[in-house]
Amino acid sequence: MTETYALEATHLTKSFPGVKALDRVSLRLKPGEVHALLGENGAGKSTLIKILTGVHRADDGTIAIDGRDREISSPIEAMAAGIGVVHQERNVVPEFTVGENIVLSRMPRRAGRVDWNTVRSEAKRCLALLDLSIDPDTPMTRLSAAQTQLVEIARGLYTETNVLLLDEPTASISANEADRLFTVVRRLREQGKAVLFVSHKLEEVFAHCDTVSVLRDGKAVLESSPLHSHSRDEIVDIMVGRALAALEVPDRVIDDSAPAVLEMRGVATSVGHHDVSLAVRSGEILGLYGLVGAGRTELARSILGLDRITAGSLEVRGSAVTIRSVRQALQDHRIGYVTENRKEEGVFLGQSVARNIAVTVWAKLERALGFVSTKSERSLGATFVGDLDIRVSSQSQLVGELSGGNQQKVSLAKWLAAKTEILIIDEPTVGIDVRTKRSFYDLIWRLADEGLAILLISSDLAEMVTLADRIAVMDQFAITGELDNTHDYDSMSQSIIRLIHGTQVA
Ligand SMILES: Nc1ncnc2c1ncn2[C@@H]1O[C@H](COP(=O)(O)OP(=O)(O)OP(=O)(O)O)[C@@H](O)[C@H]1O
Ligand SMILES: [Mg+2]
Repeated sequence: MTETYALEATHLTKSFPGVKALDRVSLRLKPGEVHALLGENGAGKSTLIKILTGVHRADDGTIAIDGRDREISSPIEAMAAGIGVVHQERNVVPEFTVGENIVLSRMPRRAGRVDWNTVRSEAKRCLALLDLSIDPDTPMTRLSAAQTQLVEIARGLYTETNVLLLDEPTASISANEADRLFTVVRRLREQGKAVLFVSHKLEEVFAHCDTVSVLRDGKAVLESSPLHSHSRDEIVDIMVGRALAALEVPDRVIDDSAPAVLEMRGVATSVGHHDVSLAVRSGEILGLYGLVGAGRTELARSILGLDRITAGSLEVRGSAVTIRSVRQALQDHRIGYVTENRKEEGVFLGQSVARNIAVTVWAKLERALGFVSTKSERSLGATFVGDLDIRVSSQSQLVGELSGGNQQKVSLAKWLAAKTEILIIDEPTVGIDVRTKRSFYDLIWRLADEGLAILLISSDLAEMVTLADRIAVMDQFAITGELDNTHDYDSMSQSIIRLIHGTQVA
């Protein structure tokens, strides 16, 4: 008996100038199964999803839905074929409300007019599936990166689909929010739907997927294999194409008597923080952990003067300061800020990789500020590009054409190359593959060893426990506790969760 697949793609091939993104790749999704699609940055995962959803046309190959061949030449045809998708790149209309964005693919109408009551009730229904209470009338521009991603997931659940393709849906949300998505995914599996799940977070993959396919350099190197017949290390080795040595966490020695270079004392802000005190020493990595919406990014923004500090003091190298802009932070205090919204603020999509890393920002800064040496930054930049293994077909390739993870690497490299003394990094490894993450961790440790003070914001608990020397936990815009990091994941995660729940109960 031959099995009928919910979706069967056979020998899909796709070339872009200078790169074969997919080379005769096949994928079979069964009803009632969650299928993981894994691979390093640039392996071809998003390209495959874009072909299955009519964003790109394959050069060759076929797609069958429920056993019948289908042409999918536009997103509308994909929807008609029962394929739902949450793309990796944010794909919202910023001018619209949350509700409008959720129902965009099929606006509810009544007598030829948009039926606003249904827009709201449908949006509420989709948001409720994820336990979200965002008002559908909220303008999209008010949302954080995480909330935006959640709204996109809600949109993916709006129409009835038999196949749901999720391209790194949990990249910028924390474990708590992701759990709500997985509850929905389990329900879809019970209903006999097929789900394809792309993620660089292997804990999630092993917790929620049944089957796995792996791409490497555009080729399928593992096809529809039962996930739990593989170990995590095996899967990583298949992705990388060779055995990857275990990560060695260095024994870092922090000088406890060194004075803090960045310190907040009893800070309150215009966006609602209260009584926030924390201090980072030179050479130290202070982690700031919390759930999405806890106020971490907002705290970083307050340090940079993007939101206002209304009480308490901010001290840099022992003196109280008032910072009014990112530029002033860099110019006067050598504070760098790698934002979580790298796509909007971090890279110039219409510029080449070379320009992005070496020229644009730092050359301008040098002219404006006179202290950044372009030449040395450029060679530094080149080192980081090598360390982070940015995959490009040529140095003149536009950043907008890179895979999601490689775009992240470009913007990270740019900031790491800037000679700052204090670096605030918000969600640095979102969307970055396992192997590059390790190179990045090594880099961060190296920078800290060289004396950089680092404030690390991350929703990835495993990353926090690996990287940070101390971890401050934030909940509801206040610090609920601070822990010395023992690097033992189980005990650290329990202590952290307790610190978060402690205040929720109170
Ligand atoms: N529009 C495009 N023009 C040119 N090249 C492209 C385009 N889209 C993708 N590519 C290239 O195709 C290859 C595969 O990219 P893809 O986005 O599918 O990777 P991915 O597996 O999703 O990676 P990531 O984990 O970083 O998201 C990369 O080399 C990328 O640079
Ligand atoms: Mg991708």
